Amino acid sequence: MTPRSPGPSCRRAVTPGQSSWMRFFSLFCPSIQADVILLVTCSIREKAEQAIWNRLRHLSALKARRQQQAGSPLRIGILGCMAERLKEEILHREKLVDIVAGPDAYRDLPRLLAVAESGQQAANVLLSLDETYADILPVQTSAGGTTAFVSIMRGCDNMCSYCIVPFTRGRERSRPIASILQEVRMLSDQGVKEVTLLGQNVNSFRDMSEVQFQSAAAPGLSRGFSTVYRAKPGGLRFAHLLDQVSRIDPEMRIRFTSPHPKDFPDEVLQLIQERHNICKQLHLPAQSGSTRVLEAMRRGYTREAYLELVHHVRDSIPGVSLSSDFIAGFCGETEEDHQQTVSLLQDVRYNVGFLFAYSMRETRAFHRLQDDVPAEVKQRRLQELIAVFREEAARANEAMVGQCQLVLVEGPSKRSALELCGRNDGNIKVIFPDAEVEDAAGCQALARAQPGDYVLVKVTSASSQTLRGVPLRRTTLSRSAACH
Ligand code: 5AD
Ligand code: SF4
Repeated sequence: MTPRSPGPSCRRAVTPGQSSWMRFFSLFCPSIQADVILLVTCSIREKAEQAIWNRLRHLSALKARRQQQAGSPLRIGILGCMAERLKEEILHREKLVDIVAGPDAYRDLPRLLAVAESGQQAANVLLSLDETYADILPVQTSAGGTTAFVSIMRGCDNMCSYCIVPFTRGRERSRPIASILQEVRMLSDQGVKEVTLLGQNVNSFRDMSEVQFQSAAAPGLSRGFSTVYRAKPGGLRFAHLLDQVSRIDPEMRIRFTSPHPKDFPDEVLQLIQERHNICKQLHLPAQSGSTRVLEAMRRGYTREAYLELVHHVRDSIPGVSLSSDFIAGFCGETEEDHQQTVSLLQDVRYNVGFLFAYSMRETRAFHRLQDDVPAEVKQRRLQELIAVFREEAARANEAMVGQCQLVLVEGPSKRSALELCGRNDGNIKVIFPDAEVEDAAGCQALARAQPGDYVLVKVTSASSQTLRGVPLRRTTLSRSAACH
């Protein structure tokens, strides 16, 4: 098993869909062949935890059936943030759970499983100051996959007042750069064409693993941004990592998520602009458009500073695609605050959005603020934000009609075997007919594009989430960059 996150699990774009673990269960549960079922959990909102409690109820029946049918027990483990947060409750309330392992305890799983084998409950929820799983390379489950995630740092020191992450994931720590580069090289050798660097605060990356890194100069924060912690001196920073990673394979696209808007010094923006294989796509989580609410959230910036950053990013990286996170109905949010968020969505016009209703967690806001926006008001505001976001995203995407976009093909489209699906540089889904196309070099016969190919697609229509177009030719990332 791999301790790496298969992707950012705490955030899903405003498209509804079946969760990956639901699919996992519909595949595995009918036959009950597994000896051990491990649930990787998320605590960021109450709904995510509720889903796990419901799932445990179903597993209880499965466990009994397995014992009856096969005579051997089915072991059940809860892993990740919910295990960290609710160890006692899980063990006592759900007697069927055999293993509870927090996000920093995955190395201990063999021992925990051995304890569980002996019929006892086993738990480890110790958080670590230095665990990055640097020496454990994940097993790629999809052979021939075109995209992969690479974890580069863990934890968060920001302490936004609504957020449970600093408590479940612990302090910020970065994986040594050498081990990240080794993993990206390995992925490149396997033919992976797109790597997303992952971390709770990916652009706060700060590798202190070697003595000589400790005296490196520290970059400043984005203008108008502050932190709750004192400036951290030294360490190899995100710009250095991005530079090194992007040099490994000129045919490999590089993305990263999730960044914090405070850590975008000019050298990072410049690098993104200059390198043809670093995608011109930034996630800039705003959370609210109201300075008053941002202060209550302890985000460390005002609406004006955030907007200034957006303008600076757009000036530095022309054509950049932007995405963001927003929370509707945070403690004390008035109708006026909500309207400020609506207007921020209109002003910025994001291409992708992740929008949530505030869900109270045991955080600073729980202890010091009142969750005083009624549930139905939160929902109404959330729906309004989603509607405005969609309208603006549709406009932003419509502006691409008639343009050529470079698409990395991922495979057949879900809706039709006659169409291919991939993503453009801005991470927007592009659908086009699976037809024979020529190679840009002009020396190869017509052929159909395969997963992992780059195809130049002329966009013919757009919605808030998808572009559609016609394929012009197969090409390469380097060749396409040279044409611009
Ligand atoms: N309620 C709702 N949304 C939350 N997020 C974090 N904590 C909460 C909460 N308590 C959202 C933020 C964050 C994203 C990963 O989840 O928007 O950026
Ligand atoms: Fe949570 Fe804020 Fe850290 Fe993001 S930056 S993980 S929202 S505490």
